[in-house]
Amino acid sequence: MSILFKPGNIAGLGLKNRLVRSATAERMCDDDGRPEPAMIDLYADLARGGVGLIVTGHAFVHESGKAHPSMTAVHRDDLVPSLRALSEAVHREGGKAVMQINHAGRRASEKVTGRTPVAPSPVPQVKGSPRPHELTGAEIEELIAAFGRAAGRAREAGFDGVQLHGAHGYLINQFCSPASNWRRDRWGGSIARRLRFLEEVAAAARDEVGGDYPLLIKLGVQDFVRDGLTLDDGVEIVRHLADWGLDAVEISGGVGGTSVRKDILRPEDEAYFLSQARRAREATDLPLILVGGMRSLAVMESILEEGTADFISMSRPLIREPDLPNQWREGRTEAAACVSCNSCWPGPGEYGIACRNSNG
Ligand SMILES: Cc1cc2nc3c(=O)[nH]c(=O)nc-3n(C[C@H](O)[C@H](O)[C@H](O)COP(=O)(O)O)c2cc1C
Repeated sequence: MSILFKPGNIAGLGLKNRLVRSATAERMCDDDGRPEPAMIDLYADLARGGVGLIVTGHAFVHESGKAHPSMTAVHRDDLVPSLRALSEAVHREGGKAVMQINHAGRRASEKVTGRTPVAPSPVPQVKGSPRPHELTGAEIEELIAAFGRAAGRAREAGFDGVQLHGAHGYLINQFCSPASNWRRDRWGGSIARRLRFLEEVAAAARDEVGGDYPLLIKLGVQDFVRDGLTLDDGVEIVRHLADWGLDAVEISGGVGGTSVRKDILRPEDEAYFLSQARRAREATDLPLILVGGMRSLAVMESILEEGTADFISMSRPLIREPDLPNQWREGRTEAAACVSCNSCWPGPGEYGIACRNSNG
């Protein structure tokens, strides 16, 4: 039996194998951020397909943090019943689900939120994008509390855990990164002060969910942008995570094209954050999940065998083949069919994520 199908455990949450569906924004919610029936079906399909743990697409914790239309919402108490439908769909099929919670910061869509995006510092994401509003101390405290309450709602909605989105250029990553955090107050300047937002978000979430509940983070350990977070900085964050009450870390990095790389067609292109994960592994004993271009069994097995990661996560391959884990368990030896073309994102007039590869 492949090591991929050895049971695993995160903070008492038993998982039937080492395969994780990495958070994937489904874009299947109504204007209020409530999951539509197609999204519930997608979760039932994923759970039926045999993946050990499903991480939901990012859900926004505060109305200023919505990244795009059709994004899942977890910023109000009245959303809990519609979110519970998702966790129940997974549990009915024998699966486990963790909700990813997020604030987009300067990557929020002004068109969707109707307000100027907020950020640690008034630095646009890229040349030409809107200049964000620099958060005041009181606004920062409000967002920390919003993360905490969102974590509590995820638990109330029946999810088996919560994952903080600390990667891909969203608000937590914006605070950690010197490219986007130019502050000189208690929230910026030294690395310790840049990390304070994450530390306090983790504390607020832990406070709300209690001590016996899995709290995970997806962490960008390297930005790959000028003046951005270096791998040394990223490893420094990893070193603190257990002390801050986190139970597992999923290693990622980059923003946009550097986090979701195209054309992973050969084993040499796979596992594109492996060198970063090896450094992270030296800095923590927490269960480590590795994402980024995982496509073939041999590559995944060797990463587990060498002990760099405890779990392997995938996003795009499970859009194309939600039952890939079952197929592998039943003896399929070929790699995922996904060609990493990134056409899974819906274009104008298209609904939700789907594999739109013309050869698919
Ligand atoms: C359509 C799509 C939506 C995504 N949404 C999220 C998200 O909500 N949260 C997140 O952390 N990563 C998100 N990602 C990134 C993936 O989780 C993953 O880190 C990345 O695609 C690399 O893994 P893969 O090669 O297995 O696809 C998304 C990726 C895709 C393709």
